[in-house]
Amino acid sequence: MPLNNSSNIIVSAGNVPESGESMDSLFVPKIDHVGKQTYSAPDLLVSNPKQTVIGSFTSIGRRVRIGHGTHPQHYLSTSPYLYLDRLGYKTAKTPSHNEWEVLAPVYIGSDVWIGDDVLIKNGVTVGHGAIIGAKSVVTKDVPPYAIVCGIPAKVLRYRFSPDIIKKLLKLKWWTLPHAKIKQIPYDDIAKAIRVIERFRVK
Ligand SMILES: CC(C)(COP(=O)(O)OP(=O)(O)OC[C@H]1O[C@@H](n2cnc3c(N)ncnc32)[C@H](O)[C@@H]1OP(=O)(O)O)[C@@H](O)C(=O)NCCC(=O)NCCS
Repeated sequence: MPLNNSSNIIVSAGNVPESGESMDSLFVPKIDHVGKQTYSAPDLLVSNPKQTVIGSFTSIGRRVRIGHGTHPQHYLSTSPYLYLDRLGYKTAKTPSHNEWEVLAPVYIGSDVWIGDDVLIKNGVTVGHGAIIGAKSVVTKDVPPYAIVCGIPAKVLRYRFSPDIIKKLLKLKWWTLPHAKIKQIPYDDIAKAIRVIERFRVK
């Protein structure tokens, strides 16, 4: 993706990108809880924007669905016309089932990469550092630093060895100030860990 100073980045409250640059046609998800430098390509839908949480430095592809609507399976009908009061079929004698509109939030960590056309089910947690392959349907929690893909999404492999993952989860580099992050030799994982460890002891 080309980097430029495009003004079409949409910045939600409390989440001002600090790099001074934005990526063309990308935007910050308009949800209440989103970390720094997280962005999405167009057509992101978050079903519970008040409670869903996305960490920092997370990259989201096109047409991603984070959570989705859900309908009851065991009533006479799956249609919301019968069970949501606001749609007009409610009478004094029929019970309300407005709870079907309350969708469990999704929790997405930091440094997650979500490919195009991914759907993540309500209530799922995606661990820090995970990758979700294009067109996957994520039905279960994704472990940190796992690469998952498919329908339903399954673990393909892990980005790093268990020992490195353990260190990264302890160090949480994305919580460092920007000036420090810029100094990390990010393309050499062993050196990067050594530098972050030095930052953490200071
Ligand atoms: C998941 C992903 C990161 C894996 O990339 P990779 O490490 O190069 O993986 P490979 O191409 O070597 O594929 C490894 C295996 O996973 C399968 N696979 C890869 N991506 C898949 C996907 N999205 N869904 C289902 N299976 C997938 C491959 O068929 C292959 O299977 P095999 O071992 O049985 O032959 C990549 O395929 C992907 O989906 N990237 C997202 C791209 C995208 O959406 N970009 C736009 C946003 S920036």
